[in-house]
Order: sequence, then C-alpha cells, then structure tokens
Amino acid sequence: GLKRREVNVLCLGLDNSGKSTIIDQLKPEHAQTHDIVPTIGFSVEKFSTSSLSFTVFDMSGQGRYRSLWEHYYKDAQAIIFVIDSGDKLRIVVAKEELDTLLNHPDVKHKRIPILFFANKMDLRDALSSVKVSQMLGLNNIKDKPWHICASNALKGEGLHEGVEWLQDQIR
Ligand code: GTP
Repeated sequence: GLKRREVNVLCLGLDNSGKSTIIDQLKPEHAQTHDIVPTIGFSVEKFSTSSLSFTVFDMSGQGRYRSLWEHYYKDAQAIIFVIDSGDKLRIVVAKEELDTLLNHPDVKHKRIPILFFANKMDLRDALSSVKVSQMLGLNNIKDKPWHICASNALKGEGLHEGVEWLQDQIR
C-alpha cells in the first residue's frame, strides 16, 4: 500500500494562540476533539497529507512549560509557530520566544522549515499577516525556509495552504 513518509513537527507559540485548535482542525474529522482545553506540558497528535504522515508535538505555550520546548528541537523536522494576531501586547513576548528558538544551538544551524500562522484573523482588530511578519522580524531569517499564513483556526481557514507549503519543503 501507500506508505507516507513520517515527519516530526513541533507546534510552538504562546498560550492561547490557537495551537491545539489548529492541530485539531488538521486531523481527520472522526479524530477531532472540538473540546480544546489549555495544554498541560505537551500532547502528541497525528495528521497526514497526501504524501506525509505528521507526528505533532503540541507544546503548551504557558510560561511555566516553555522550558520544555528546547528538548524537542533536535528531533524536529519542521516547526509550526502560532501567533495570536489579536494579542498586540504579547506579540513582543512571542518575538522573544521566537528569537530564543532561533538562537538555540539545536536550531541555529539547522535548515528547518518554519511555518507561521498569524492566527485569529477573524478578530476585528487582528494585525495583518504582513504586520505580524514585520513585528516578528521574519525577514531577518535568512538560513531557514519560512512562510506565514493568516488563519482562522475556528473555521479552518488558511491552514491547508500552510500545510501544503510545509509538505513542499520537506519532500
Ligand atoms: P495552550 O495550550 O495554552 O498553549 O493554548 P493553544 O495555543 O493550544 O490555544 P488553543 O488552541 O487552546 O486556543 C485558545 C483559545 O483561542 C480557544 O478558546 C480557541 O477556541 C480560541 N481560538 C483558536 N483559534 C482561533 C481563531 O482563529 N479565532 C478565534 N477568534 N479564536 C480562536
């Protein structure tokens, strides 16, 4: 039968940005929970595309758990980084966490693709994906392929475009 290649993905971002909601939407309908609660520590989920089978480490974004993230960098073949586009105050904190990630020895010299979701684009005062990209300084990322998509995880909008980009980076 058809064997999909296995890929480890790390899903990062501040608490409440929408990571678990995004991952839930990417799973097949019968596997979706719809009942999303704040993640404690991390949770391991699976979803697949036509050619790849993704194992996602959905990391809690709460401050006290963020120190767990780095233990998973080594085995990650791709990163999904989620931003709450409606949370203008904490985008600065998101940038700090991103910079820490990019400077980590297990990530710094690795050509790992990073997919950004500027999530919650449905909120009336959400920042555009261009603005989010500027505020995070994404143009400074020169040694890794990256891509940003505006998304509405509640409706599933923008997610598949992002995952298709990721799939193209990996094959
Ligand atoms: P932690 O597990 O604490 O790290 O949070 P998380 O990043 O996994 O966020 P989660 O998926 O639990 O979503 C947090 C809240 O945001 C929930 O109430 C979601 O329903 C809501 N949410 C997620 N995506 C969207 C979106 O695109 N738009 C809106 N309006 N709300 C969203």
